[in-house]
Amino acid sequence: MLLAAFAPPALAQELLDWSADEIRAIGRHGPWPPSPVRDPSNRVSGAPAGIVLGEHLFNDPRLSGSRRMSCATCHQAGRDWGDGRAKGVGTVALDRRTPTLWNVGYSHWFGWDGAGDSLWAQSIRPILDPREMAGSAAEVGRLLRGDKDLACGYQRAFGATVGTDDERLLVDAAKALAAFQATLVSPRTSFDAFRDALVAGDLGDAARYPLPEQRGLKLFIGAGNCDTCHFGPRFTNGEFGDVGIGFFVRPGEVDSGRLGGLARLADSPFNLLGRYNDDMSGANAARTRHVQRLHSNFGEFRVPSLRQVGRAAAYMHDGSVATLEEVVRHYSEVNPDRLHSDGTPLVRPLGLSPQQRTDLVAFLRSLDADPPPRPAPPPLCP
Ligand code: HEC
Ligand code: HEC
Repeated sequence: MLLAAFAPPALAQELLDWSADEIRAIGRHGPWPPSPVRDPSNRVSGAPAGIVLGEHLFNDPRLSGSRRMSCATCHQAGRDWGDGRAKGVGTVALDRRTPTLWNVGYSHWFGWDGAGDSLWAQSIRPILDPREMAGSAAEVGRLLRGDKDLACGYQRAFGATVGTDDERLLVDAAKALAAFQATLVSPRTSFDAFRDALVAGDLGDAARYPLPEQRGLKLFIGAGNCDTCHFGPRFTNGEFGDVGIGFFVRPGEVDSGRLGGLARLADSPFNLLGRYNDDMSGANAARTRHVQRLHSNFGEFRVPSLRQVGRAAAYMHDGSVATLEEVVRHYSEVNPDRLHSDGTPLVRPLGLSPQQRTDLVAFLRSLDADPPPRPAPPPLCP
């Protein structure tokens, strides 16, 4: 009797049976956080002075044509680096949802359609896009040359004074923006504690992870087949898929997704095959060189990471699904005729019971955690 009084209630949970294969599959979703990666195409990637310059630029509305919109207008720190809306709003209403920037440094394709092959190239797009920030290389050049603090921050980051080639300055600003964004890593979650305990064989600790979450996870890596695409520590394989979300943006107008993204990638002067890739060997351009444009890319969108997913305001590339419960219902009832993938379909209607749907949502929510408050950015030139 006395002994029972000492048992902490958190240990009173149970542990499902987990096979060796399941434990291996769960292990592949970690460890978290992963080690930082350096981007060889970006010479200020991982460099402290580049990161500081990037954070200042990220918050600077002078990068936009109106001088009123910064990256942080849409990618807000307090909203998990999104905007809390179903679809983005720039100078006009946009057709796609603003994605989070958590863990973006680990991606290899960027944007819902993969039109960017580097984080810095993807960071140029919103500056120039007339529907987003509607800025220009000339204005970015003027800003870097004309602002004493930014010019000093540029010199510290790039080891050279601000030059006169505006296009190069636009690229350098984007490289600093990328260096900053690559530092945004989402916090550890209750799933990570479970995963580490299970892999270490610490079953007492693993049993703290509630049963609904455990049952949802079992579905996720098992019958649900979710981790074929939502693979690895970030819960995405970084590639593209079609899960039956509509592609009409207006009657008669479609968002072709990956198909259009590949055309934009090939046409971009800022892709990794171009002159701004800092990796002289060109080895990091292999993926861009070899990617093929297939008709089956029509209507494919990038597999989103599921970390912090429960904190998003809406789901899918077009924000057309309002809640996680509805996402799970979508996978449960998806119409196979809406999918136009060739080969073995990876998505098929799962016909989940209400209990299974609740479990899957409980699991997805265990990938969320509150981030610590952010300190103010350090000064550009202390
Ligand atoms: C008007 C709102 C808005 C502004 C301003 C904005 N973005 Fe975005 N951002 C979006 C939307 C919408 C997308 C999705 C675009 C797409 O898929 O075509 C996106 C996508 C991205 C991505 C790709 C993320 C991923 O997971 O692939 C990055 C990186 C990014 N933005 C960085 C920036 C930076 C850096 C700035 C400032 C220079 C910026 N954004 C300004 C709305 C905005
Ligand atoms: C064929 C690959 C594939 C499989 C299998 C798959 N997904 Fe997805 N998932 C995607 C793609 C692609 C999107 C984005 C689709 C879009 O925006 O049009 C997505 C979107 C999501 C989203 C919304 C995330 C966001 O930020 O918008 C959630 C949640 C999700 N999937 C969970 C699951 C679950 C749970 C399963 C298993 C039942 C699953 N997925 C199976 C590829 C897949």
